[in-house]
Amino acid sequence: MAPAPPRSPGFPERRMRRLRRTPAIRRLVAESRLSVDDLVAPLFVREGIDAPVPIPSLPGQFQHTVASTVAEVKRLLGLGIPGVLLFGVPERKDPRGSGAWDPDGIVQRALSELRDAFGGAVALMADLCLDEYTDHGHCGVLRDDGTVDNDATIELYGRVALAQAAAGADIVAPSGMMDGQVAAIRRALDGGGYEEVSVLAYAAKFASALYGPFRDAVDVHIAGGGDRRAYQQDPANRREALTEVLLDVAEGADMVMVKPAVTYLDVIADVRRCVDVPVAAYHVSGEYSMIRAAAANGWIDGAAVALEQLSAITRAGADFVFTYFADEVAEAIGG
Ligand code: PBG
Repeated sequence: MAPAPPRSPGFPERRMRRLRRTPAIRRLVAESRLSVDDLVAPLFVREGIDAPVPIPSLPGQFQHTVASTVAEVKRLLGLGIPGVLLFGVPERKDPRGSGAWDPDGIVQRALSELRDAFGGAVALMADLCLDEYTDHGHCGVLRDDGTVDNDATIELYGRVALAQAAAGADIVAPSGMMDGQVAAIRRALDGGGYEEVSVLAYAAKFASALYGPFRDAVDVHIAGGGDRRAYQQDPANRREALTEVLLDVAEGADMVMVKPAVTYLDVIADVRRCVDVPVAAYHVSGEYSMIRAAAANGWIDGAAVALEQLSAITRAGADFVFTYFADEVAEAIGG
């Protein structure tokens, strides 16, 4: 951007407050705006329950049955929200996470019901990972020494992608941060005749403490008090995030995501400058629950803080945002 030209002598000083004077002027000069069109609601669908179960660590969010997922998506579409992202909570877990690619697995059942109920009116996305389905809680399969086996894992991700695509997903969203996962998934989808299914890569996903409430929601406990630092990114690294994103785009990602959001606004801005594909950000469970908890104590105006944070994510350059506030914000800003 060019620097402002010098004022001629005697010209009155620039008064910034003129353009802040009325709500109408402020609307006119807003540089970015959050729209209902930019919101995606994450949803949890749990096997083996017959009514929705509230999630204590995510007040206002539920583990849904397939039927209540359909009802919830209907409500969200009524608010003008274009997309949902499904996570599964299976009844049984095993070392390889086989529920993730079982054609009758919980997410696949929900996807096909939603596809039948809403057709193309909803952008149907599925989180593509194994951690909700493995008994050890890692995002991949383990070697004997307990480390995650990258190449064996991406092979399984290909199977999950096929199962999700067959069930009706428009977009699969790999979140495991394995090397080569996007290429493996793209290959599997194309090989299965699903050239039209897109891949939204959780490209720059950091090993964050902000996923805590989510792990309660999906009942994931990492074996032996472990963590994901051997595959998710170190929060200290900004350049590395760009490398991750560029690799995913080169492997065929149709869209990329930065996650979490507010703690990584610099990364969102970098990514927006460096790629031409749509950029998403995930305002994660901890970001949501912190606002909820402070608001419940009367310390902040939760709705205002949520809107401010989501606006900041948009201002930083995200084209759309995954947020547990999707319904409330849609109600507040209108469809
Ligand atoms: C992994 C996955 C996680 C989230 C989305 N996908 C958890 C993790 O990486 O441990 C976190 C979402 C949130 O915190 O809202 N399948």
